[in-house]
Amino acid sequence: MLKSEDIKIILGIETSCDETGCAIGLKDQNRIKILSNIVASSAPLQEKYGGVFPEAAAREQIKSIIPVIKEALSQARVRSYQIDAIAVTYGPGLIGSLLVGVEAAKTLALLWNKPLISINHLLAHFYAIWITNDPSSPFKAGQNKLSASESDASPNFPLIGLLVSGGHTDLILMKKHGKYQYLGGTRDDAAGECFDKCARLLNLPYPGGPNLSKLARKGDDKAFNLPLPMINSQDFDFSFSGLKTAVANLITNRIADTTGRSSADLAAAIEHSITEVIVRKTIAAAKKYQVEQIIASGGVVANTTLRTKLSLATKQFLTHGKLYIPLISLCTDNAAVVTACAFYNLNFVDPLKLQANPGISLSNLD
Ligand code: KG4
Ligand code: ZN
Repeated sequence: MLKSEDIKIILGIETSCDETGCAIGLKDQNRIKILSNIVASSAPLQEKYGGVFPEAAAREQIKSIIPVIKEALSQARVRSYQIDAIAVTYGPGLIGSLLVGVEAAKTLALLWNKPLISINHLLAHFYAIWITNDPSSPFKAGQNKLSASESDASPNFPLIGLLVSGGHTDLILMKKHGKYQYLGGTRDDAAGECFDKCARLLNLPYPGGPNLSKLARKGDDKAFNLPLPMINSQDFDFSFSGLKTAVANLITNRIADTTGRSSADLAAAIEHSITEVIVRKTIAAAKKYQVEQIIASGGVVANTTLRTKLSLATKQFLTHGKLYIPLISLCTDNAAVVTACAFYNLNFVDPLKLQANPGISLSNLD
């Protein structure tokens, strides 16, 4: 049975949606150094469809997977015999995309005779914070540039993990590596999905979230009184589909205009509602479980209002509160986080038996 000391270099693969990623990382004391992190994105192609078109995403994965793996090996200057294990995202995600990464990882594990580690994509997002260097700038020996967290130290357990992406809005309690408790998540649309759908109602181009956020900067978030869905529920679940309906009603009933000042005000009010609910629930979870440290990850963490509110609330409401936010480049889909997650979650699987599972969630961890 392999122990964690035996695993020093891991090659990770990520293909859950429209990004094809391969990264190589090595363990350095308590954190992970990424030697290479290659991401090929088919997002520009998806832009044409106004969203991710699963079949097109899967076709792009097939085209990219081998060049991406080759490039990751070449940039890391690592040969196959130096790799101790292969890690791969096996879910959740789009089945056609997941299959490409899973089959590639199984093939490499068998061909190179390496152990295979299966990784839950959602858990991997949190592991951005255990990466010590910025993988987008070339790694040099001795370099120890930390991620853009508010603290230079490794996060201490217990932690509250907040994941806010296009497909997920979840809160977990991380007791230690390998021991997690699911606290709650969205019952319908995820935060990013709500941003994107509201952006479409405002006639903003894809990807909607960043464009809506840009428009919101010119607006007054108090001009419209939008709902704060589930703000007073005693659980840690979220629901954002009603917010989108409220926005649609304002537009249909001509209470809000999709041009000019009115659209900026509406964008600001939408951003306010989404971020307010997320921040309040995250702090409530930290208080309930007496946790002082919070990790936030996922594409929506790129939203400045969310980052600012989270940062202020952590300081204001938690006595020794600390917020960890990874580099934005590590918050979106990439294989560096899969590699980092694998070092601390050695879920060895038989390469002949591993199957992609598009339907798993963070509630499958405990
Ligand atoms: O995690 P991610 O890159 O992709 C997955 O969901 O897998 O998240 C993408 C989501 C999209 O919904 C996008 O609109 C949203 O993150 N997003 C933002 C911002 N940047 C990205 N939403 C609001 N404000 C932003 N600045
Ligand atoms: Zn993701």
